[in-house]
Parts: sequence; C-alpha cells; structure tokens
Amino acid sequence: MCGIVGYVGRSQASQRPLEVVLSGLGRLEYRGYDSAGVAVVCPDGLVTAKRAGKLTNLLDDLAEHPLAPGSAAIGHTRWATHGGPTDGNAHPHRVGGLAVIHNGIIENFATLKAELLADGAEFLSDTDTEVVAHLLARAYEGDLTEAMRAVVARLDGAFTLLAVHEDAPGRVVGARRNSPLVVGLGEGENFLGSDVAAFIASTKEALELGQDQIVTITADSVDVIGFDGEPATATAYTVDWDATAAVKGGFASFMDKEIHDQPKAVADTLLGRTDPRGALVLDELRIPEAALRSIDKIIVIACGTAAYSGHVAKYAIEHWCRIPVEVELAHEFRYRDPIVGPRTLVVAISQSGETMDTLMAVRHAREQGASVLAICNTHGSTIPRESDAVLYTHAGPEVAVASTKAFLAQVAACYLLGLYLAQLRGTKFPDELREILEDLHALPDKIQRVLDDEEAVRHVAQKMADEESFLFLGRHVGYPVALEGALKLKEIAYIHAEGFAAGELKHGPIALVDEGQPVFVIVPSPRGRDQLHAKVVSNIQEVRARGARTLVIAEDGDEAVVPYADVVFRVPQTPSLLAPLVAVVPLQIFACALATAKGLDVDQPRNLAKSVTVE
Ligand code: G6P
Repeated sequence: MCGIVGYVGRSQASQRPLEVVLSGLGRLEYRGYDSAGVAVVCPDGLVTAKRAGKLTNLLDDLAEHPLAPGSAAIGHTRWATHGGPTDGNAHPHRVGGLAVIHNGIIENFATLKAELLADGAEFLSDTDTEVVAHLLARAYEGDLTEAMRAVVARLDGAFTLLAVHEDAPGRVVGARRNSPLVVGLGEGENFLGSDVAAFIASTKEALELGQDQIVTITADSVDVIGFDGEPATATAYTVDWDATAAVKGGFASFMDKEIHDQPKAVADTLLGRTDPRGALVLDELRIPEAALRSIDKIIVIACGTAAYSGHVAKYAIEHWCRIPVEVELAHEFRYRDPIVGPRTLVVAISQSGETMDTLMAVRHAREQGASVLAICNTHGSTIPRESDAVLYTHAGPEVAVASTKAFLAQVAACYLLGLYLAQLRGTKFPDELREILEDLHALPDKIQRVLDDEEAVRHVAQKMADEESFLFLGRHVGYPVALEGALKLKEIAYIHAEGFAAGELKHGPIALVDEGQPVFVIVPSPRGRDQLHAKVVSNIQEVRARGARTLVIAEDGDEAVVPYADVVFRVPQTPSLLAPLVAVVPLQIFACALATAKGLDVDQPRNLAKSVTVE
C-alpha cells in the first residue's frame, strides 16, 4: 500500500530532492497504488504536483510543468481508502506552506474533521489525511517536530506521516505508529522511506524506527524522539541487497524474474543453517531451547500466500515433530478467542513483515502469553521486531504483488523450523534428519529443472487465455499447492479459480464440472505413497468422466496418470513432504503466462497491494 519517500540535501536549490523522490516512488510502485504526488521545499516556497493514476501521469505533468529546485522533497504513491483515486485526493495535502503525506488510516478523522470544520477549516479532499494537514498547520509555531508531536497525540489508528514546511527548508519530519518508516543515511543527505527500496540506489545504511517515534532529518542530522518527546534510539543496520536486485534484469515482468529467482531464494534460505557436525542451528531464534522443548501446540498465523505456506508447514511439522499444528488466517485468529498460553508457539509468516492483520494477531498472541516466532523476508520490519524470535527468509526483495519466491522461501523456512524442533525434541534420529536436509538441499536444482521446462507450460497457458474458470485439486501437501495455484490465477489473471482438497470433490465441487472445464490436479509421488497416489488418480478419472480437461502435475516416471491427462506437466521426483517446492512452480508459470497473454499488468494487478498495512 502507499509508498512514502522523503529526502533532504545540503543545497538549497537542487533538482536532486525531486529526482531522489521520483526514483524512490518508482521502486515503491510494487506496493500497489492508484495516484502519486510530490512536494518540494524551494527557496521561494513550497511547490507540489499530484496526479491520479500511474506514476507516468505525474511524470508527464512534471515534464510539462517543471517544479523549481529545492532543498527537500517528499513523495507519495496512494492506495485509496478514504475518497476515490482522484487528483484532489492524491497526496501531498497542503495547508498554506505546509505539506503532508500519509500511509495508514486515521480512525478518528471524522471527529477531528467536524471540529476543524466548526473552526472554519476548508477541505479540498475526501481524505482522512487532510485532517492531519490542518491540525499540523494549526499546531505549527516555528518548530515542525514539535507540531508533529502535538498532532500525533490526537490521532487514533495506523499512520506513517511525513511533513515539510516552507519556513523550515532542509528538514523533513516523519512519525510512525503501526505503519512502516525507515531512515536512509547518506553523506550530506538523508532519506526516509516506507521501506529501503525507497533509497537503496543511494545508500544501504539504514535505521529502523521503533513504534510511536518521530524522526527529524536534515542533510547532516537524524534526530529521533518518542511520541512522549523523550529522546529515543533507532537501530542501525546495513541492507544486504542492492538496487540491481529490485530491477527486472531482462525479464518481461518482476513476477517472471522472481519465479526464476526461486532456486536461489530457496538455496539462500537454507544456507548456513548447520554446524560442522551437520546439526541444525537457527541462531536468530532467541527463544530458550527449554521453552521450545515444552511447547504443546503450534498455531501458524498469516494471510494470503503466506498462509498457504503455513498449510504446508502443518503437514511437515506434525509428521516430524508430533506437535499439533493449527493454521489460521491472521484476521480470523484475533477475533475468535483462540486458546493460547505459555506452551503455545505462534508462528507468524509474512513476506513484508508489515501486514496489519498479521501484526495485530501477533500482538494478540503475545498478550495471551504465547511465544511468537516470525518467518519474514524483510529485515527490520514491524512483525519480526515485535516477535520473540525471527527466522529470516533470504528471498531478496519481492516486487510483484503476487508472491512467488517469497512463498518458496517461506516453505523452506518452515521445513527448517520443523526439522530444528524435531532435532531439539528428539522425534527424529540424527541420520533421518540429515537425510531430509540433504533432500532439501537438492531442491534448488530440481526447481531449476522445472524452470528449464517452462516453455511447455507457457504454451498451454497462452492457448487458455479465454477460459473463464479453473479448478485445482490436491491432497495432503498438494492441497495447499492447489489453493496457491488458484490464488495466483485470481490475483493476476482475474479468472475465477477454486482450489479444493481432492477428497472433497464428491461432496459438492464436482457439480461444477461440465464439458471442457479445465481442472488442474496436483498428483503426489507414487513412491511410498501408493494409496494417496491411487486416490488422486481416481479423482482425475472422476472429473474426466464428466467432461473436464485435465492438466496434471505429476512427477517424472509416473505413467499411471497419462491415460487420464489431457496435459501432463512433469516435476522431478521429490519426497512427498517437500514436493510443494516443485509442484507449485508450473502453476506460477501458468498464471504469469496466461495473464501476460491477456495483456494484463502481472506485477500490479488491479485492487491489490503488496503490503496491506490496514486491517
Ligand atoms: C497481500 C498480498 C499477497 C500476500 C499477502 C500477505 O494480500 O497481495 O500477495 O500473500 O498480502 O503478505 P505478507 O507480506 O504478510 O506475506
């Protein structure tokens, strides 16, 4: 959701503030937005420009009506919540010489607006943000930081705010509560951003801000205080990827590139997790071993694709560790009065680390006394910071809204967690664990082999661009793979798609099957799982007998599926529990190729945001 960039340099009249902010907004486009705007503090006062639609609309406008050079700038991509995506509702919002941008929702904006209207304020937009602009303008008495402090005390909800004032050139003030904001440290210049992508082209040195903090940047200083006005400290870190990781690198879309990044994403996530004796070490865990030994239940909380990685984790962790695992959508968990206690381990899975639904569930779990372990791809983000422990995935920046490589890295991290718990609790012998780890380390090459065969998948996808509905069937770990395959098609191709547990077919969904209905079936390995395999092969026959066109994902050498499949996509032989890491890849390629054939923007699908920072 909304992208935020702020910049201050030493020169009073330079084009760099605007350039930095616009290029930062470009790198934040992936978050999802529907309008964009900038404000520059120039020697002659504040200038702003904002446009509905994509960033190119703003760039065209700026080419026609260039802004004067200045000392500082703020920029914003807005994902509409209060008021439609119009020029007027785009940020920044100005009141006199002050401009403000905002991510989040001011929950008490209606009360504040009524008060401001009664006091004669004139509103030019339908946004909650404009309320903040009026409050700041009224509170400003020459010190923008102090004004921010006074105003945040009156706000409820979630917000990142950045403000500039023409009377305070060379200064940007930011504040955050329940919404992300990081500082980038430069030489004679400083940056603010929703995430490090905002300034990664200029610096890798960053500061992580805590909850309820206000930051004031100038060209040569960064001052952090709490909402209570007391000096506060922010944690410094160095970003471990560079700007090239966030470019398409010759691929047609970020999603296409990220699908191809997957062998490396999985390999990097598995890297350096064993000691010289081959035992697993998860250094970042920070929960005492005794506590992990005593847990009697695991609850995975997550949303979207991350929740499906949790579904896969359930099968693996229960099998390896004999601990019951529940998987719950984070937004449902919080409101159902879940039974958690000190012996519950809550595992929060989130690529961005900022998903508000997941964050709120994390807080709720901790309040109830559970330990929370975050599996996250974004260093310094809020969810790992508020958890008891973190296991970072190392997928690198994921830009496309529809998650691919982060999903595989999350699944790999879940396996590591399961194996580590099995080691700690002695539910698997060391040689068994070593064997599974070896199988896991073989996965990046197997994923690469699926990618090497992508043309066959693309070819079929391109021919099916006019289909209106797809069904996906799977059993055991193939079930979450089916759900994820359906989600990819919904997200980027806007096609109605449903994933089912294959056994559920005869309890209702089979009524949907008609002549020509395309049905994907994820077939488990026949090796050692012949009953499960036989059941799924029967399911293929059941739908085919009713006219379905069957697209079957089956492992190399599985000839039993051939008579019933219209198309077979092959994946390398892989132990059953680890198979999702290969089985999901053809489904990702299929969705990406089909959406591309429909002429859709696969990286930024309509209505969706990469990082959903509102509940
Ligand atoms: C949004 C995105 C999904 C993503 C989900 C969870 O809905 O559009 O692609 O799976 O959020 O995101 P997270 O960052 O918590 O993994």
